Amino acid sequence: MMTRANIAIDGPAGAGKSTVAKKLAAELGYTYIDTGAMYRALTWKVLQEQADPENESAVLHILQQMHLELDMKNGNVFVTVDEKDVTDAIRQQDVTSLVSFTARHARIRSEMVEKQKKLAEKGGTVMDGRDIGTAVLPDASFKFFLNATVEERAKRRHAEQLQKGMQSDLTQLQTEIAERDRIDSERETAPLKKADDALEVDTTAMTIDEVVSFLLGIVREVKRYE
Ligand code: DC
Repeated sequence: MMTRANIAIDGPAGAGKSTVAKKLAAELGYTYIDTGAMYRALTWKVLQEQADPENESAVLHILQQMHLELDMKNGNVFVTVDEKDVTDAIRQQDVTSLVSFTARHARIRSEMVEKQKKLAEKGGTVMDGRDIGTAVLPDASFKFFLNATVEERAKRRHAEQLQKGMQSDLTQLQTEIAERDRIDSERETAPLKKADDALEVDTTAMTIDEVVSFLLGIVREVKRYE
Protein backbone atom coordinates (compact mmCIF):
# COMPACT_ATOMS: atom_id res chain seq x y z
CA MET A 1 0.00 0.00 0.00
CA MET A 2 1.26 3.49 -0.81
CA THR A 3 1.85 5.33 2.47
CA ARG A 4 1.06 9.01 2.69
CA ALA A 5 4.37 10.71 3.24
CA ASN A 6 5.21 14.13 4.62
CA ILE A 7 7.26 16.35 2.35
CA ALA A 8 9.29 19.24 3.78
CA ILE A 9 10.19 22.19 1.59
CA ASP A 10 12.44 24.89 3.03
CA GLY A 11 14.36 27.78 1.62
CA PRO A 12 14.72 31.57 1.67
CA ALA A 13 12.05 34.09 0.67
CA GLY A 14 11.14 34.06 -3.01
CA ALA A 15 12.78 30.73 -3.89
CA GLY A 16 9.44 29.50 -5.28
CA LYS A 17 8.59 27.30 -2.28
CA SER A 18 4.90 28.09 -1.92
CA THR A 19 4.00 27.80 -5.61
CA VAL A 20 6.02 24.61 -5.95
CA ALA A 21 4.64 23.12 -2.72
CA LYS A 22 1.04 23.92 -3.73
CA LYS A 23 1.45 22.28 -7.15
CA LEU A 24 3.27 19.28 -5.75
CA ALA A 25 0.51 18.76 -3.18
CA ALA A 26 -2.16 18.99 -5.89
CA GLU A 27 -0.34 16.41 -8.06
CA LEU A 28 -0.07 13.98 -5.15
CA GLY A 29 -3.51 14.64 -3.66
CA TYR A 30 -1.78 15.87 -0.48
CA THR A 31 -2.59 18.83 1.78
CA TYR A 32 -0.47 21.94 1.39
CA ILE A 33 0.49 23.67 4.64
CA ASP A 34 1.93 27.18 4.39
CA THR A 35 3.75 27.77 7.68
CA GLY A 36 4.87 31.26 6.62
CA ALA A 37 1.17 32.19 6.52
CA MET A 38 0.92 31.17 10.19
CA TYR A 39 3.74 33.54 11.22
CA ARG A 40 2.25 36.22 8.98
CA ALA A 41 -1.22 35.82 10.55
CA LEU A 42 0.30 36.19 14.01
CA THR A 43 2.15 39.30 12.89
CA TRP A 44 -1.07 40.74 11.46
CA LYS A 45 -2.75 40.24 14.83
CA VAL A 46 0.22 41.79 16.67
CA LEU A 47 -0.19 44.87 14.47
CA GLN A 48 -3.94 44.97 15.09
CA GLU A 49 -3.37 44.86 18.84
CA GLN A 50 -0.60 47.45 18.53
CA ALA A 51 1.67 45.13 20.49
CA ASP A 52 5.45 45.18 20.28
CA PRO A 53 6.73 42.37 18.00
CA GLU A 54 9.97 42.35 20.05
CA ASN A 55 8.06 41.56 23.26
CA GLU A 56 7.99 37.77 23.34
CA SER A 57 5.46 37.45 26.20
CA ALA A 58 3.04 39.85 24.56
CA VAL A 59 3.31 38.05 21.21
CA LEU A 60 2.91 34.66 22.89
CA HIS A 61 -0.21 35.84 24.68
CA ILE A 62 -1.70 36.95 21.35
CA LEU A 63 -0.81 33.61 19.73
CA GLN A 64 -2.44 31.67 22.55
CA GLN A 65 -5.63 33.74 22.35
CA MET A 66 -6.07 33.89 18.58
CA HIS A 67 -8.01 31.41 16.51
CA LEU A 68 -6.10 30.70 13.30
CA GLU A 69 -7.37 28.66 10.38
CA LEU A 70 -5.78 27.73 7.05
CA ASP A 71 -8.08 26.45 4.30
CA MET A 72 -7.50 25.52 0.68
CA LYS A 73 -10.11 26.74 -1.83
CA ASN A 74 -9.62 26.40 -5.58
CA GLY A 75 -5.93 25.79 -5.12
CA ASN A 76 -5.39 28.88 -2.97
CA VAL A 77 -4.66 29.21 0.74
CA PHE A 78 -7.26 31.20 2.70
CA VAL A 79 -6.26 32.43 6.12
CA THR A 80 -8.73 33.35 8.86
CA VAL A 81 -7.92 34.93 12.21
CA ASP A 82 -10.75 35.05 14.73
CA GLU A 83 -13.28 34.53 11.91
CA LYS A 84 -11.81 37.40 9.84
CA ASP A 85 -10.42 36.69 6.37
CA VAL A 86 -6.83 38.00 6.40
CA THR A 87 -5.66 36.24 3.22
CA ASP A 88 -4.66 39.48 1.47
CA ALA A 89 -3.81 41.49 4.58
CA ILE A 90 -1.03 39.09 5.63
CA ARG A 91 0.82 39.66 2.31
CA GLN A 92 0.94 43.44 2.74
CA GLN A 93 4.14 45.34 3.34
CA ASP A 94 3.45 46.16 7.02
CA VAL A 95 3.22 42.46 7.86
CA THR A 96 6.11 41.43 5.58
CA SER A 97 8.51 43.88 7.16
CA LEU A 98 7.74 42.76 10.74
CA VAL A 99 7.22 39.00 10.37
CA SER A 100 10.89 38.07 10.89
CA PHE A 101 10.77 39.79 14.29
CA THR A 102 7.72 37.92 15.59
CA ALA A 103 9.12 34.66 14.17
CA ARG A 104 12.38 35.09 16.04
CA HIS A 105 11.21 34.20 19.58
CA ALA A 106 11.89 30.70 20.95
CA ARG A 107 8.53 30.33 22.74
CA ILE A 108 6.61 31.48 19.66
CA ARG A 109 8.46 28.98 17.53
CA SER A 110 7.89 26.06 19.86
CA GLU A 111 4.15 26.79 19.96
CA MET A 112 4.01 27.07 16.15
CA VAL A 113 6.08 23.91 15.69
CA GLU A 114 3.64 21.97 17.92
CA LYS A 115 0.68 23.16 15.84
CA GLN A 116 2.50 22.27 12.62
CA LYS A 117 3.48 18.80 13.83
CA LYS A 118 -0.20 18.15 14.66
CA LEU A 119 -1.27 19.24 11.18
CA ALA A 120 1.10 16.66 9.69
CA GLU A 121 0.53 13.80 12.09
CA LYS A 122 -1.57 11.75 9.66
CA GLY A 123 0.90 12.20 6.78
CA GLY A 124 -0.04 13.30 3.28
CA THR A 125 1.22 16.86 3.60
CA VAL A 126 3.54 19.15 1.72
CA MET A 127 4.71 21.71 4.25
CA ASP A 128 6.82 24.74 3.37
CA GLY A 129 8.77 27.10 5.60
CA ARG A 130 12.24 27.71 6.98
CA ASP A 131 12.64 24.99 9.64
CA ILE A 132 10.42 22.16 8.39
CA GLY A 133 13.21 19.68 7.62
CA THR A 134 15.23 20.66 10.71
CA ALA A 135 12.64 21.24 13.47
CA VAL A 136 9.01 20.57 12.46
CA LEU A 137 9.29 17.32 10.52
CA PRO A 138 12.81 15.98 11.08
CA ASP A 139 11.50 12.54 10.03
CA ALA A 140 9.82 13.73 6.82
CA SER A 141 10.11 11.20 4.01
CA PHE A 142 11.32 13.88 1.60
CA LYS A 143 13.21 17.07 2.37
CA PHE A 144 13.93 19.68 -0.26
CA PHE A 145 15.74 22.99 0.15
CA LEU A 146 14.90 25.38 -2.68
CA ASN A 147 17.31 28.19 -3.35
CA ALA A 148 17.95 30.88 -5.96
CA THR A 149 20.10 34.00 -6.18
CA VAL A 150 18.77 37.04 -4.32
CA GLU A 151 18.50 38.92 -7.66
CA GLU A 152 16.31 36.21 -9.16
CA ARG A 153 14.15 35.93 -6.04
CA ALA A 154 13.57 39.69 -6.00
CA LYS A 155 12.65 39.58 -9.71
CA ARG A 156 10.08 36.85 -9.06
CA ARG A 157 8.46 38.70 -6.15
CA HIS A 158 8.42 41.87 -8.28
CA ALA A 159 6.58 40.12 -11.12
CA GLU A 160 4.17 38.49 -8.65
CA GLN A 161 3.30 41.79 -6.97
CA LEU A 162 2.82 43.62 -10.28
CA GLN A 163 0.55 40.82 -11.44
CA LYS A 164 -1.55 41.23 -8.31
CA GLY A 165 -1.83 44.96 -9.06
CA MET A 166 0.33 45.81 -6.05
CA GLN A 167 3.00 48.52 -6.07
CA SER A 168 6.50 47.15 -6.39
CA ASP A 169 10.06 48.45 -6.47
CA LEU A 170 12.66 45.91 -7.59
CA THR A 171 15.68 47.47 -5.86
CA GLN A 172 13.78 47.88 -2.61
CA LEU A 173 12.56 44.27 -2.82
CA GLN A 174 16.09 43.01 -3.26
CA THR A 175 17.25 44.90 -0.15
CA GLU A 176 14.26 43.65 1.87
CA ILE A 177 14.66 40.03 0.83
CA ALA A 178 18.37 40.10 1.68
CA GLU A 179 17.55 41.61 5.08
CA ARG A 180 14.82 39.04 5.81
CA ASP A 181 17.24 36.22 4.82
CA ARG A 182 19.81 37.68 7.21
CA ILE A 183 17.42 37.84 10.18
CA ASP A 184 15.92 34.41 9.42
CA SER A 185 19.37 32.80 9.07
CA GLU A 186 21.01 34.46 12.06
CA ARG A 187 18.28 33.92 14.67
CA GLU A 188 19.16 31.62 17.54
CA THR A 189 16.13 29.34 17.44
CA ALA A 190 15.61 27.16 14.37
CA PRO A 191 17.32 29.46 11.86
CA LEU A 192 16.77 29.13 8.13
CA LYS A 193 19.14 26.29 7.34
CA LYS A 194 19.27 23.33 5.01
CA ALA A 195 18.77 20.06 6.92
CA ASP A 196 21.82 17.81 6.50
CA ASP A 197 19.66 15.22 4.75
CA ALA A 198 17.75 17.67 2.51
CA LEU A 199 18.30 17.85 -1.23
CA GLU A 200 19.24 21.39 -2.28
CA VAL A 201 17.74 22.53 -5.58
CA ASP A 202 19.02 25.73 -7.19
CA THR A 203 15.95 27.07 -8.99
CA THR A 204 17.62 30.21 -10.41
CA ALA A 205 17.46 28.98 -14.00
CA MET A 206 14.37 26.75 -13.64
CA THR A 207 10.71 27.47 -14.24
CA ILE A 208 8.17 26.54 -11.55
CA ASP A 209 6.93 23.63 -13.65
CA GLU A 210 10.47 22.33 -14.10
CA VAL A 211 11.01 22.38 -10.34
CA VAL A 212 7.65 20.66 -9.70
CA SER A 213 8.32 17.87 -12.19
CA PHE A 214 11.84 17.39 -10.83
CA LEU A 215 10.56 16.96 -7.26
CA LEU A 216 7.59 14.89 -8.37
CA GLY A 217 9.93 12.57 -10.29
CA ILE A 218 11.96 11.95 -7.13
CA VAL A 219 8.89 11.37 -4.93
CA ARG A 220 7.27 8.98 -7.44
CA GLU A 221 10.48 7.09 -8.06
CA VAL A 222 11.06 6.49 -4.34
CA LYS A 223 7.41 5.59 -3.71
CA ARG A 224 7.47 3.01 -6.52
CA TYR A 225 9.79 0.88 -4.39
CA GLU A 226 7.78 1.09 -1.19
O1 DC B 1 7.41 32.10 3.51
P1 DC B 1 6.99 33.51 3.92
O2 DC B 1 7.75 34.60 3.22
O3 DC B 1 5.53 33.72 3.86
O4 DC B 1 7.41 33.58 5.47
C1 DC B 1 7.24 34.73 6.23
C2 DC B 1 8.25 34.81 7.37
O5 DC B 1 7.93 33.86 8.37
C3 DC B 1 9.71 34.58 7.00
O6 DC B 1 10.40 35.79 6.88
C4 DC B 1 10.27 33.79 8.14
C5 DC B 1 9.11 33.29 8.90
N1 DC B 1 8.98 31.83 8.86
C6 DC B 1 9.67 31.12 9.79
O7 DC B 1 10.43 31.70 10.56
N2 DC B 1 9.52 29.77 9.86
C7 DC B 1 8.71 29.12 9.01
N3 DC B 1 8.56 27.80 9.12
C8 DC B 1 7.99 29.85 8.03
C9 DC B 1 8.16 31.20 7.95
